[in-house]
Amino acid sequence: MATKGIILAGGSGSRLYPMTSAFSKQLQPVYDKPLIYYPLSTLMLVGIRDILLISTPQDTPNFERLLGDGSRYGISLSYAVQDAPRGLADAFRVGKDFVGGSPVSLILGDNLFFGKLDFYRRALANNTGATVFGYPVTDAERYGVVEMGPDGKVLSIEEKPAKPKSNLAIPGLYVYNNDVMQIAADLQPSKRGELEITDVHQAYLKQGALNVELIGRGVAWLDTGTPESLLDAGVFVHAIEKRQGLKIGCLEEIALQQGFLSTDEFKTSIGMLPKSSYRTYCESLLSNGTIL
Ligand code: G1P
Repeated sequence: MATKGIILAGGSGSRLYPMTSAFSKQLQPVYDKPLIYYPLSTLMLVGIRDILLISTPQDTPNFERLLGDGSRYGISLSYAVQDAPRGLADAFRVGKDFVGGSPVSLILGDNLFFGKLDFYRRALANNTGATVFGYPVTDAERYGVVEMGPDGKVLSIEEKPAKPKSNLAIPGLYVYNNDVMQIAADLQPSKRGELEITDVHQAYLKQGALNVELIGRGVAWLDTGTPESLLDAGVFVHAIEKRQGLKIGCLEEIALQQGFLSTDEFKTSIGMLPKSSYRTYCESLLSNGTIL
């Protein structure tokens, strides 16, 4: 069964105040596109085409205006509202009808990946329980942290530990079999009153069904939670795009590359775009082709 995708784009984004007082974090610009384009492109690049976007009551209409039903990118996008910030694992309760009996991958709407996504493709192909990823960072205390034994066995998994047992942060990108739906349904809120994603992973760990894949250093995982990290992400995207003359996270290009849109459908899609450097870039793909 094809894996379905959920993008969780909720939260108050209070650390980005005042930028987030009118619209959400995931709609903030990362250089030349709204942040949400990047996690959406990550799902599309691994072939996930049936996607649910979950956001707040205020912001869901903004995402709908921005991305529509996904047909312009050859995907199916649906929307669901999380009426209160009940934690990441709440995504599976909100998304119950959407997921049904399928395997599902969750990506957080503020996580940006750049580089070869083979680690993610492998996880989708091989996952039997839950697969999470480990990525070396210098500030692991800000994230979920995984500790691994020399044999690759998971020893512990902790959410934002004061004293991290390793430098391996767990990015906001997860792959699950359908058991996640029951695990999330049974979950109790944590001390801070949220359904914690780390508790979902603890449940899989207990069953011996949690797999951790290390993401090599050739992949960039960027965080956008603070004004500085948001700017860093924009500077990063700008530097690569300027050097290569290629865009990161251009949804129309990815749709064409992935065969989600035929050339004619792609032409129709970009024909609707306003005159802009984004449109010029898309048009140039028709004569130059795309580079993988
Ligand atoms: C969440 C998760 C954390 C993960 C992080 C990745 O934290 O709880 O385990 O490492 O996303 O971005 P948040 O950033 O929502 O506080």
